[in-house]
Amino acid sequence: MIEVKLRNGEIINLKILGINYIKRLCDMIQSLDDEGRSHYRYLVIDNYKSFIKCYLRILGRLLLNLLIYKMFGRYFLGVIAVNGCKEVVGFVHLDIALFDSFKHAQYGIVVRGDYRGRGIGEVLTRHIIGYAKAFGVNTIYLTVDTDNEAAIRLYKKFGFVIEALLRRVDSRGGKICDIYYMALHLSQ
Ligand SMILES: CC(C)(COP(=O)(O)OP(=O)(O)OC[C@H]1O[C@@H](n2cnc3c(N)ncnc32)[C@H](O)[C@@H]1OP(=O)(O)O)[C@@H](O)C(=O)NCCC(=O)NCCS
Repeated sequence: MIEVKLRNGEIINLKILGINYIKRLCDMIQSLDDEGRSHYRYLVIDNYKSFIKCYLRILGRLLLNLLIYKMFGRYFLGVIAVNGCKEVVGFVHLDIALFDSFKHAQYGIVVRGDYRGRGIGEVLTRHIIGYAKAFGVNTIYLTVDTDNEAAIRLYKKFGFVIEALLRRVDSRGGKICDIYYMALHLSQ
């Protein structure tokens, strides 16, 4: 666990996502505002069925992590930001694929609406990039809506570059949208 002081002076803790925090993570995802919901589509919770699905999906990943790592070289790593009331206020994940010649990881992040702009996105991103390096990951990649300026600026700050514009490949609120494929190359 790592203690971090935010821009407004509040202290939060960074923790590796464990089974004991899945419910609180799902609570945060369920309570997301429209902006968070529309841009963060890795986990979507809008009713009790999707809550249970999401809970079981993460639980399955965490429980099977070691087995899947040994068999297929895949590892799911989540880091959560937890406030003084033990609520999850931010989440970043890497879905790591370790192959002999090339190691890559898919990244995703979300911060609770009332905690945005305080530096949590930056702290979580810095932290998870550290883990990616420790795993020997060559490239971290992500997809982001082309109009998600906050996220794109955050990614560029860490050296992510836009590798491709993917037109009309996703849908958001019933509308087809364009996304960027971005990558951070940690080594050649
Ligand atoms: C994108 C997101 C994770 C950023 O988290 P955050 O905690 O608010 O970000 P931080 O406060 O750490 O800011 C870090 C950097 O991000 C960028 N940024 C953050 N908010 C921004 C905004 N409203 N406008 C422009 N840039 C912004 C800036 O570069 C900022 O650095 P700076 O303050 O030195 O300029 C957050 O806005 C979020 O959860 N959005 C909804 C979900 C989402 O879009 N997820 C990404 C899907 S691909």
